[in-house]
Amino acid sequence: MKKTIVRIISLMLVFCMVFPMVASAAVGNEVTRVSVTINGDTATARGFCWYTDEKAGTDLQVAPVGTDLTKAEVITGISYPSMEKYVHKAEAENLTSDTKYQYRVGDSEAGVWSEIGYFTTSSKTDDEANFIVIADVQASNEENFRKAAVVMQKAVETMPNYEFAVNLGDFVNDCTNEEWDSYFRNFAFSNMNTTLIPVAGNHEGNLQWFKFNNMFNIGEAEGSAVITGCYYSFDWGDAHFAVLNSNDMYPMSASQINWLKNDMNASDAQWKIVLTHRALYSAGKNINKPDTIIMRNLLLPVIDELGIDVVFAGHDHMYFRTETVKGEKVQETQTITEVWNGESTTFALNPDGTTHILPSTAGTKRYSVNEDAIPPILESAALARDTKEGGVFATVSLDSEHFVYKAYMVNDETQEKTLIDSYAIKKTEKVPANETFVELPTDINEETAEQHINTFVTEIFKMIISYFKLLFSII
Ligand SMILES: [Fe+2]
Repeated sequence: MKKTIVRIISLMLVFCMVFPMVASAAVGNEVTRVSVTINGDTATARGFCWYTDEKAGTDLQVAPVGTDLTKAEVITGISYPSMEKYVHKAEAENLTSDTKYQYRVGDSEAGVWSEIGYFTTSSKTDDEANFIVIADVQASNEENFRKAAVVMQKAVETMPNYEFAVNLGDFVNDCTNEEWDSYFRNFAFSNMNTTLIPVAGNHEGNLQWFKFNNMFNIGEAEGSAVITGCYYSFDWGDAHFAVLNSNDMYPMSASQINWLKNDMNASDAQWKIVLTHRALYSAGKNINKPDTIIMRNLLLPVIDELGIDVVFAGHDHMYFRTETVKGEKVQETQTITEVWNGESTTFALNPDGTTHILPSTAGTKRYSVNEDAIPPILESAALARDTKEGGVFATVSLDSEHFVYKAYMVNDETQEKTLIDSYAIKKTEKVPANETFVELPTDINEETAEQHINTFVTEIFKMIISYFKLLFSII
């Protein structure tokens, strides 16, 4: 009897000693913060990024839906310490276009894997694209991340056939581990099951060096420095998208501007769309700030020169959409109303200029309309309003002829969505490619913090001089 009791106690002690180790190994290797992003051709490649608390293997399996994922080739990526954890990155290549894939990431040797996620590759022949746009989740606690995720859930319900999701930056507020964990935990239902298009915001860019690029596995453009974010581009349907890094703003480097020109001019896509965190047109508080004004002055002529159709931006946490503008001038545009996808839709017909859209915020930090916004911001507005009652998401469906945009607000109390704005464009002629374009250099300077500060001070100085000149001319 005594021996039996001693055996039982011994077993219990061994169990108590071993079990916590097993548990902690499982927790340490647990896969978190999973995302799938653009890394090369949207039809054939993807980048995957995830985190573990402890050092672990970096393995990825990808297979078409309907096949056995566990038997797929194990792709081994790279891992390194980041934010007192381990970041893991791996890429899938040679995928088949227009195919729904399943995947899992983890440590094959330890047998620790993520949940199974999904994404769909773009088609090489289809001219359509369907996507969701949100901005500025920028939460700092679990409750506000959860509220923003409700807005994203409503977006997914509204557009269940969405092929990718654009996040216009400021994913988090203070860039802490807790915030990133909370963001990815609450948005896993979307981030794990679609291709995410992340745009670097100032909250994960300025003074948060390398944080953005350690959170996502993006195939950045050649020459794109990765200190404060990155810039990259991709095609989907008959649209070409350029994702800017507006943290590169002291002022935006000549390298990035030249890259944007090269990138857009090389595309013969019908739709040219720019995604940026800082806005060129916004009636928010940031539009009057020197950094934004400098960036605006530099970029507006380039947007005109490149024939950009739509610019989506964040940063200002209010809703803003311009009329069609060229530089700072509103353009006259004809409209046509016809049935599209079963719905009577009014289209701007072959507009000559750009529409700038700021789809407010999916988060809970919301700002008022800035009545002192620099001219001609307010005069150019088709709609400028706050969205104090709820978070906002937008949907876009496009094909070679049509671009149809809708914005919805999700009421905080009722979680009911309301259509707050819609806008559509019809192009009746194919946009010709720029055949005479000569590629510009993109290796103009090494992007360093010191250069950023020096050029920013120089630009501010130039701006002060121009203000004085203006003042004297008025006097
Ligand atoms: Fe911001």
